[in-house]
This record gives sequence, C-alpha cells and structure tokens, in this order.
Amino acid sequence: MSEKKSAPPEALVELDYGSVMADVLGDSGLTKGEIDDFKSQMAGIHKDLMNRRKNGELPFYDLPFKTKELRKLRRSADEIRKKVDDFVVLGIGGSALGTSAVFQALRPLNHNLVERTKRRYPRLFVADNVDPEGMAALLNLVDPRRTIFNVVSKSGTTSETMAQFMVVYDQIRRSLGKSSLKNHIIFTTDPEKGLLRSLAERQGFECFDVPPGVGGRFSVLTPVALLPLAVAGVNVAELLKGAAAAAESCTRPNLWQNPAYLFTVLTYALHRQKGRSILVMMPYADALARVADWFNQLWAESLGKRLSTDGRVVKAGQTPVKAVGATDQHSQLQLYMEGPEDKVVVFLGVKSFRVEIRIPPLFKEEKDIAYLGGWSLGDLIRTEQTATARALTGAGRPNMTFTLPKVTPASLGYLIYLLETATVAGGYLYQINPLDQPGVEASKHFTYGLMGRPGFESFKTEFQKGPASKKKYIVE
Ligand code: PA5
Repeated sequence: MSEKKSAPPEALVELDYGSVMADVLGDSGLTKGEIDDFKSQMAGIHKDLMNRRKNGELPFYDLPFKTKELRKLRRSADEIRKKVDDFVVLGIGGSALGTSAVFQALRPLNHNLVERTKRRYPRLFVADNVDPEGMAALLNLVDPRRTIFNVVSKSGTTSETMAQFMVVYDQIRRSLGKSSLKNHIIFTTDPEKGLLRSLAERQGFECFDVPPGVGGRFSVLTPVALLPLAVAGVNVAELLKGAAAAAESCTRPNLWQNPAYLFTVLTYALHRQKGRSILVMMPYADALARVADWFNQLWAESLGKRLSTDGRVVKAGQTPVKAVGATDQHSQLQLYMEGPEDKVVVFLGVKSFRVEIRIPPLFKEEKDIAYLGGWSLGDLIRTEQTATARALTGAGRPNMTFTLPKVTPASLGYLIYLLETATVAGGYLYQINPLDQPGVEASKHFTYGLMGRPGFESFKTEFQKGPASKKKYIVE
C-alpha cells in the first residue's frame, strides 16, 4: 500500500518575479547572472544581519516570538473591549500607519459603520494628523464616556501627537472630571524614557511598551499596533504566527531561497542598473490598500538617505508610489505603460476573496456587457490584475507580484515581516542606515522654532532670514 502523502502547505505569500527577468521581459529585465552577482554580497549582508540580531541590535527580527507579552496584551485588550464603544489611536507615522493598514486588511471594510450590537468589537479610529477639521469631526463622533484614547509615541515628544493628547486631555478633564483621565487615556511609549513615560509614572496612566531598539516604522508587531488591533477584534496571535513563518524563510542565507533578500536585490538592481527609481506598490484588493501606505513609509523613510554609513553623499532611495487596482488602471496606468521607463510595479494580489459577489447573467442580447454574466467580481479584479501585469510585461515594463492565498492574519503577518526584512537588507545595498531618519529633523526644528519651543529660537530667526515666504513669488 502506497504511503498517503499530504499536500504541501500552501505558501502564506509567494513572490512571482518572472516579469523582471530578461528572458521574459527583454532588455529592460535582469539576467540570472546579474542577480547571481549579488550572491556573495548578500551572503556577507546576511552574516552581518544575523550577528546584529544576536547582539540585540535588530530586535524587530524577534518580535513574532514574544508570546508572554502577547498574552498580557490580549488580556488588556479583553478588558478594554468590555469598557468602550470606541478606541482612538493618537499617533503619526510609524505609530499609526501599521495599525491603519492591518485594521483595514483584517476587519470588514465597513467595521466602523456596522451598528454596535452586530459589530461585537469597538470602532477603531487612527487620528494621524492635526488637521483641526479632521480632529473636530472625530471628537464629535465619539462619546468620551465610552472611549479610550491611546496616545502612541515612542519618543513622547512628537508635536502632532502631543498636541492631540493635550486637546483630548483637556476635553476629558472638562467633561468627565480630572479623576476620569486615567480611565480614558492610555499610553504606548518607550519603556524608560520620555515625557509620556514619566507622566504615566506621576499620574498613574496605564502604559504599554514600545520595545527598545524598535523604531516607529518597524513597530507594527509591537503593542503600538497590536493593542488597538486586538481591541478591534484582529487575531493578533495569528498575525504573529505568520510573521514567525516569515522569520524562517527571510533568514535563509541563500539569496534565491529568501524572498526578502530576492525582493530587495531585484528592486535595487532594477534601480541601479535599469534606472527604475520609482517603485509602484499596486494592491488589487481594497483590504490591502493601506498596506501600500504603510510600505511607502517603510521604504521611503528607511532608504531615502543623503549620506552613506561612511559619510559619503549618496542621495539613495527609490520613490514608492501607491496605486490601487483596478481603480488606478483608469488613472495612473497610462503613465506606467507609456511614460518614462523609471518604474517597477509591484502587485499585491489575492487568490481568493473572503466574500464573493457573482455577476448575474443579464442583458444577454447586449454582447458588450453580457460576457460579464456568470463571472464573479473577484474573477474580474484578478483578471484585471493579470491582464495589467501582462500588458506591462509586453511593453517591457518590469513588474513583480506578491500573492496571498487570501487576506488572513497569518498571510499579512508574513508579508509585513518580509517587507521589513527586505528594507533593512536594502539599507546595506544602498550603504545607508535604514533605521534613522535625519532628513525629517529640519522641518521639525523650524516648527518648534516658529511655535516657541524653548531651545529652538535660532530656527525661528533662520526661518525668517531664509529663502522661504518671499511674498514676491506669490501669484493671486
Ligand atoms: O518611523 C518612524 O520612526 C517615524 O515615522 C515615527 O514613527 C514618527 O515620527 C512618530 O514618532 P513617535 O512615535 O516618536 O511619536
């Protein structure tokens, strides 16, 4: 009797890179040899990454394995959920984008619109701006008595987040009384440093930790996002399991077997050798639309650097752009097909949708639309994705595709970990530090100077003397 073999487990995410290869794409593609040329460099990078991981310098690698912390966080989320109708994150950049991306991917797209009794979980809002109209609209929407505001800031000094915090603090103090503050405001911040931490200690606010050494844009698998996501009903344990699976494949030393290394080498080689300085991230699923926003910050803020690690001016980085299929086929695709040959398109697709809608077989006599009848909307959007990829390939435009069998917590956790690892490895190829963001400091300093933060007075003077705000260049 022959032994019954079980089918191999389905990959959580697969990368199809055929359409960047020269034998498929032609001259604008890469040859196997050109990719092989990175093998020894990637082996060195791998060794260094693993050493730094071992020395605790890259703690993002080990976030999927923090099971004790996860249990505690889920207990807290269970408690919070019982008390509130709304959970509001006050945070910006890396303290907000991961939460928004995973929330949109893993909760129904209309989560916040479903009435409370049917929804089971609180509404989740991520206030990631200081636009007064946006903030006022949000504050008018939620009932402070049934809301928890989660102030998320690793540094505890980010002006946008701190301004939101001060507004909310005052509103709660006035409407519910000072003694209620602790019941409606919680913090997620550095475990030791910063204003939020010391305020938490002095005034007794509940506080969750951003693990030391994990920067904002690498913090989606920490309480920064896991707490709000767990409150809103996301299976965060499965999200981490998916990331743990990626931790195996994305730490394989061999470039060809490591999806993160391969992705980063392909994008880097296309940039440097084929002039593809723009990376278009194009999800073909509304659920993944905000993943493109999260990725854009990760790629832009990590790789966009003026100086190399040894101090040379390199002006590195590849510009990430978001496009959503099929919508942006009717907006940006014309440019991608026929405009400057400076882009690589990265599709994010799914094999099946969690819900399907069949197109009814109507209008049989109208041949221009009758053909749609009998297919599903999922069939149509997937076909549009493959058709767009085929059209780009035919026009010699490089493209790759990440495919998730379905948008699940595990597949998303896998994708997040893969893209984070690719970004850090990409930092080595560009010879820059992917973990800092010195370029965002100048605008912060001018803001501090203009808004009167002590110690930043000189930036106000510099601003007023400098090239900005020359009235003669204004047209009315
Ligand atoms: O990725 C980053 O490091 C940044 O985008 C930060 O997340 C952002 O500036 C917010 O910082 P903080 O969490 O300190 O308020």
